[in-house]
Amino acid sequence: MKKIITLLCALSVSLLSASALAKTVTIGMAIDDLRLERWQKDRDIFVNKAESLGAKVYVQSANGNEQTQIAQIENMISRGVDVLVIIPYNGEVLTNVIREAKRDGIKVLAYDRLINNADLDFYLSFDNEKVGEMQAQAMLEETPNGNYFLMGGAPTDNNAKLFRQGQMNVLQSKIDSGDIKVVGDQWVDSWLAENALKIMENALTANNNNIDVVVASNDSTAGGAIQALEAQGLAGKVSISGQDADLAAVRRIVAGTQTMTVYKPITILADRAAEIAVELGNNNTPDSNATLNNGMKEVPSFLLEPIVVNKANISKTVIADKFHAEKDVYQQ
Ligand code: GAL
Repeated sequence: MKKIITLLCALSVSLLSASALAKTVTIGMAIDDLRLERWQKDRDIFVNKAESLGAKVYVQSANGNEQTQIAQIENMISRGVDVLVIIPYNGEVLTNVIREAKRDGIKVLAYDRLINNADLDFYLSFDNEKVGEMQAQAMLEETPNGNYFLMGGAPTDNNAKLFRQGQMNVLQSKIDSGDIKVVGDQWVDSWLAENALKIMENALTANNNNIDVVVASNDSTAGGAIQALEAQGLAGKVSISGQDADLAAVRRIVAGTQTMTVYKPITILADRAAEIAVELGNNNTPDSNATLNNGMKEVPSFLLEPIVVNKANISKTVIADKFHAEKDVYQQ
């Protein structure tokens, strides 16, 4: 009898440790806005990778609404997820909901955008200041003198501030020397093309169409601005930057209406994020290469390198990486 009990004990211990090893990590992925091409890609790659690692993922998109995002995160907390992966709409308002998550032992990964004043476990992104530097540098190379219009991203997005910081690192001395003149500076709510279009229409009117460069912070806003330029017969004559290597943007580069974009290999980001989420869910410590202060703590972070894309290197970058198919890029 004693033998049987010992045997049963041993069996249940080994079953227990087997189930501990094979723990299914559940992840709640709270995305700001799936209306933008960029985030659909992030979602698809992240979910695939996480599932291949045995995790289960619930995805929600707040479609650019702060309250919706908070409610969605609360819902994920009550579902009992192990890890929250958050692409915040507003990186300033999630302190309380993240406190709730932490009280329940849930790990929190800020994905692509930092969340301020919150108890994050990890932050994964690109070097966002460098993105802004690349955009401004490319504009200066193309048009070293003239009237510059600065089109910032969503004012609620910490990244938008970092892009602007990077742009100013490059532009400030040229502004001071008078080589370039900033004729307007606006931020685009929710990064939406339709908002950028209106801003650009007004900027063109206010400046009698005398704008030589638009420092746009990403491709969706560049797309809106280019529509306004097209209406005035100025598309292709005004230098304009972007970011994300959206298919539409890469095609505009081929057509000559957009000067450049900044390609951020989303596959690397989303794959890495899935690995980190699973590591956090198993109480492991992911590798980091930076720490960022978010106002509450030094957040262990990993920052990836962005890449400039222009007409000359499309095939060596986004096509070589299979980020886009050649036939889609060059299709008439
Ligand atoms: C930023 C992100 C950019 C761009 C933008 C709009 O936070 O870093 O790549 O996609 O949001 O969604």
